[in-house]
Amino acid sequence: MSLTDLKKRRSKWVTVGLPLGLLVVAAAVVGLLFGLKIIKTGSSSATSSSSSGSPGSTNHQNQDLNNLSYFATSTNAYHQPIYPSMFGSPTFASSASVSWPADDFTGNSQSFDNLRPHPRLIAPQYKWRALKDMIAKEAYLKSWHDIIMANATAFNNLPPVVHVFDGGPSGSGILDPARETKSRIKHFAYAYRMTEDTAWVDRTYRELQNAMTWGDNREDPWNTAHFLDLAELTAAFAVGYDWLYDQWTDAQRTEIRNAIVNYGLHYGLLSYTDPASTYGWWHNVNGNWNCVSNGGLIMGALAVYEDDTTGTASQLLERAVPNAVANCAFVPSSDGTGSETANYWEFAITGMSELTSSLLTATGSDHGMLAANDGIRLTSLFRFYVTGMTSLFDYGDHGPNKFSTTANALLFFGSAFNEPRFTLYQRDRYQAPEPWSMFWYDPSAQGAWWNNLPLDRVFDNSTDTWASFRTSWTDINGMYVAMKAGALLNHQTHGDLDCGTFVVDALGERFFGEHGNDNYLNPNYFSNETQTSERWTLYRKMTEGQNVIAINGANQDVTAVPTMRHDTSNTAQGASTIFSAPSDSSAFAVVDLTSAYFGTDVKRGIRFLPGRRQVLIQDELTGVTAASQWRAQTNATISIDSTGRSATLTLNGKRLVAQILSPENVQFQDLESKRTERAPPIAPGLEDMDNGPARVLAIDLPTGTTTLQVLLNPQWDDFTDFKTPPTVALANWSLDSHNS
Ligand SMILES: *[C@@H]1O[C@H](CO)[C@@H](O)[C@H](O)[C@H]1NC(C)=O
Ligand SMILES: *[C@@H]1O[C@H](CO)[C@@H](O)[C@H](O)[C@H]1NC(C)=O
Ligand SMILES: *[C@@H]1O[C@H](CO)[C@@H](O)[C@H](O)[C@H]1NC(C)=O
Ligand SMILES: *[C@@H]1O[C@H](CO)[C@@H](O)[C@H](O)[C@H]1NC(C)=O
Ligand SMILES: *[C@@H]1O[C@H](CO)[C@@H](O)[C@H](O)[C@H]1NC(C)=O
Ligand SMILES: *[C@@H]1O[C@H](CO)[C@@H](O)[C@H](O)[C@H]1NC(C)=O
Repeated sequence: MSLTDLKKRRSKWVTVGLPLGLLVVAAAVVGLLFGLKIIKTGSSSATSSSSSGSPGSTNHQNQDLNNLSYFATSTNAYHQPIYPSMFGSPTFASSASVSWPADDFTGNSQSFDNLRPHPRLIAPQYKWRALKDMIAKEAYLKSWHDIIMANATAFNNLPPVVHVFDGGPSGSGILDPARETKSRIKHFAYAYRMTEDTAWVDRTYRELQNAMTWGDNREDPWNTAHFLDLAELTAAFAVGYDWLYDQWTDAQRTEIRNAIVNYGLHYGLLSYTDPASTYGWWHNVNGNWNCVSNGGLIMGALAVYEDDTTGTASQLLERAVPNAVANCAFVPSSDGTGSETANYWEFAITGMSELTSSLLTATGSDHGMLAANDGIRLTSLFRFYVTGMTSLFDYGDHGPNKFSTTANALLFFGSAFNEPRFTLYQRDRYQAPEPWSMFWYDPSAQGAWWNNLPLDRVFDNSTDTWASFRTSWTDINGMYVAMKAGALLNHQTHGDLDCGTFVVDALGERFFGEHGNDNYLNPNYFSNETQTSERWTLYRKMTEGQNVIAINGANQDVTAVPTMRHDTSNTAQGASTIFSAPSDSSAFAVVDLTSAYFGTDVKRGIRFLPGRRQVLIQDELTGVTAASQWRAQTNATISIDSTGRSATLTLNGKRLVAQILSPENVQFQDLESKRTERAPPIAPGLEDMDNGPARVLAIDLPTGTTTLQVLLNPQWDDFTDFKTPPTVALANWSLDSHNS
């Protein structure tokens, strides 16, 4: 889908979405969505949801659908919103028509000399003025506000964040404490502005003072050795300085500003100007380091700009802004895919939206960020498609604790690009309640975000070529399958050797999944992506630790350039939350993985059988001279039948049956999730993380030429008519090649 397609679709959707003053509605239960109490409103008239939650889920059926203003009725154990069962095209919108007033600021956009008065970062004064009234009328804003205040209160009751080096200054440094501090400052400063209770100002000051005096290094307390720490603290202080500007005494204001300039901006400027500095290595990196580092520096510089008599802020902005436009803006590939991993995307995109939003509010211009790369608009769709029925297609490293890092950039992008779909998607997500959301959210967004949205999408930028197929956007008990086969290089050492890896969700469970990162404090974990990097000797990073074929236990070739052929029935869901794919609805992707196996001819295809109830995985290996093994990591318990040809995977009471259709001489095995004796040995001094109860469903393959077909049949409540598909060579796969 191109950008124009997206625009076309948007206008269609707006017209479809608004008929008849039909009031919105979905049962409410923000209480359940976000863990507070439920607001009950009268008699029950809802059809109960078709999505029943899995164990541990919160679930609300039979709530009154007539007078509530939220889309989702509740969330499941994976925090996924559960939508009520509703036919037709209801106008999914907030109960009240609430929108932001016009902004009265006319800045000098391209220069920094005529900045908006404080507050100027993300949350300008006209929005604060309007907010109380909007909260009283709009359900999402109300529930988020309540949660933010409750969280501020909870943080208030804790002692100030403790300075702890995780792995020393140049390990993970003080990143967690820095992010926790930032999250608290946002909450405290928000609480003050909404309540005008100066106790919040005092509490903000206590937290700021605490972080000013952290550690033993008085010259460099914010830890240039791990620059993200410095950047996140600079952002935290910038928000405290800016949002509470009028509340600080002169002495406090000077103290906070000096911390921003001396501990943050000073080193930021040196990173650009001092050739001897070693901490600016991220300047030419299209990854979260660039977005987060420039983001904190830009926010800090905008906060103190005209008060900074040293000139540091202004010199820094001249460098950091164009650097972000040239680098951070390219974290999304041209197709929107986050080039690090699906999880790291959250760090980069949070930094990107913070810095872009701050530039927009402070100066009136984004200084070219949003237009620098089409992938920035498309990256919201990346998030839609990389989110499965349970969780992300979470290949590669998952990243450290998130704290103030979220996908709420979708709320910002929804407003900035005028794409209500992005806003509507994110507002039902568990991450939404935090201070940025209050200002990024456009409450006038209406419609069902899934309306006319194709179920399938292939992201074909060669950095991460990958495919995403699903049965529905609103039934979390449906099926999701995603496979990637892009380059193994250029993921900022967050990738795995995983060409052809896949995940499968069905019945509300992740049946085949990813292990995520290993211990970051392993020596040389982030050294490089070369073939001999010690990173690739860790099980979770090596080829055997993925859902792929391992030949002789070996790692894949880091220089792989896989190619993908694909097709889709282009099935899209309408506005209704109730949807079943037509019986001929299908999608497939076939990847040539030969370059990943040093020239041994290996191809993998993955597809829905027509109707989207079964998935077929087919591997074609030609001229293999060593023992090879099909491997898929699972948290399910595996039970293999006496023939060895059928394995039942059971997870939280849900079952999926895997069957080997061909060749005839191979069988399933239930293995521990760890390296085989053939795998590369672990480098000295490194240690594999434990994979808990995870298992590997494995199949040993013969040498020579093999076509392996594994059929996945989730044991649906409402479907048992499983077909055994014919054997069709991958070269001949088409949308209807399996219709028989
Ligand atoms: C919906 O709720 C509002 C305020 O809570 C109330 O005034 C209104 O009468 C309710 N409408 C219906 C249809 O129940
Ligand atoms: C706010 O509180 C909720 C409920 O306790 C929690 O799930 C959420 O993580 C908190 N948010 C932040 C930003 O800490
Ligand atoms: C992939 O995306 C990157 C970043 O936007 C871009 O530089 C590159 O040209 C894209 N590659 C292709 C083949 O489109
Ligand atoms: C197993 O479950 C854990 C915890 O939910 C999750 O992090 C991990 O990705 C899962 N592993 C697999 C192989 O699905
Ligand atoms: C890559 O990292 C390994 C350690 O994992 C190191 O031995 C090797 O020299 C590094 N190669 C390059 C090109 O930096
Ligand atoms: C694909 O189908 C054609 C036509 O039926 C057939 O001739 C060809 O052998 C098939 N290719 C493979 C690789 O099976």
